[in-house]
Amino acid sequence: MDQPANLDTHHDAVDHFLAEKLAFREQLHEGSRWATHSERLEHLAAENQSLRQQLVRSQRLASLGTMSAMVAHEFNNILTPIISYAQMAQRNPAMTAKALGRAFDGGLRATDICRAILGLARQESGEPVRVNLCQLITDTLLAIGRDPKRDAIEIILRTPADISIVTRKVELQQVLMNLLLNARTAVLEKSGPRRIEISVAPAGPEVVIRVSDNGVGIPRENLKQSFEPCFTTKPSPDGKPGGHGLGLAICRDIVLSLKGEITVESTPGSGSTFTLLLPS
Ligand SMILES: Nc1ncnc2c1ncn2[C@@H]1O[C@H](COP(=O)(O)OP(=O)(O)OP(=O)(O)O)[C@@H](O)[C@H]1O
Ligand SMILES: [Mg+2]
Repeated sequence: MDQPANLDTHHDAVDHFLAEKLAFREQLHEGSRWATHSERLEHLAAENQSLRQQLVRSQRLASLGTMSAMVAHEFNNILTPIISYAQMAQRNPAMTAKALGRAFDGGLRATDICRAILGLARQESGEPVRVNLCQLITDTLLAIGRDPKRDAIEIILRTPADISIVTRKVELQQVLMNLLLNARTAVLEKSGPRRIEISVAPAGPEVVIRVSDNGVGIPRENLKQSFEPCFTTKPSPDGKPGGHGLGLAICRDIVLSLKGEITVESTPGSGSTFTLLLPS
């Protein structure tokens, strides 16, 4: 009598064991699915990060491309007087010292521009280093190549000579370059005096960098959008958009990755101010 009961118990135990095994296998399967999902997510995140880095690099090269036309034009302006001063020194010995002095100044400006541009093109984003902001801004203005005076743009630089922060230099320079190129376009689109002001000031454990212009300004309805990728109002001669609408989107990405903030205030017709708050 005991046997069937035992057998039943045995069967029950076997059923129970099998059910548990099945459940365990399902758990394992579920677990491995999750493992695959999280691996895939990690893979996608890494791919996303690498694409972002490529985009930042391409945008830097695109800005350099925009600048190269200005640089070619500027070099023409620099070389023409260098050649005439050299000729003057050859023909008129009384003028030699003065003419060579002028040619020398022109040559120095040309090499400064080359150094600043090559520095920007060559460098890869790297580890944070201590960066003197006055020097960085001066180099960035030089790398733009075109002498602002030729477009009647007054550049006002208000920065203490010794203020420095620890940051990724190439990326910060890319942000400044974008803001300065935008400011330049904005002042060129308006009649009257043209002014771009760059100021740097300490703010507790942070620094504030402001790039202001007295250009066309940004309509209120475009303020938020101006940081969105592909938003541009820059016209081009053939009617297609002249800008890529990437500059500010990339600035925002870079500044966030540097643990900072970027904001804008603007009054249409009077100008705009972009403010960067960065840890020092
Ligand atoms: N200082 C400024 N004054 C007026 N408008 C500005 C200023 N900076 C940006 N904008 C507006 O924001 C838009 C987006 O700027 P963003 O730098 O992202 O793109 P873009 O300059 O059009 O093209 P690119 O990708 O070549 O920089 C500009 O098209 C312009 O309408
Ligand atoms: Mg731009």
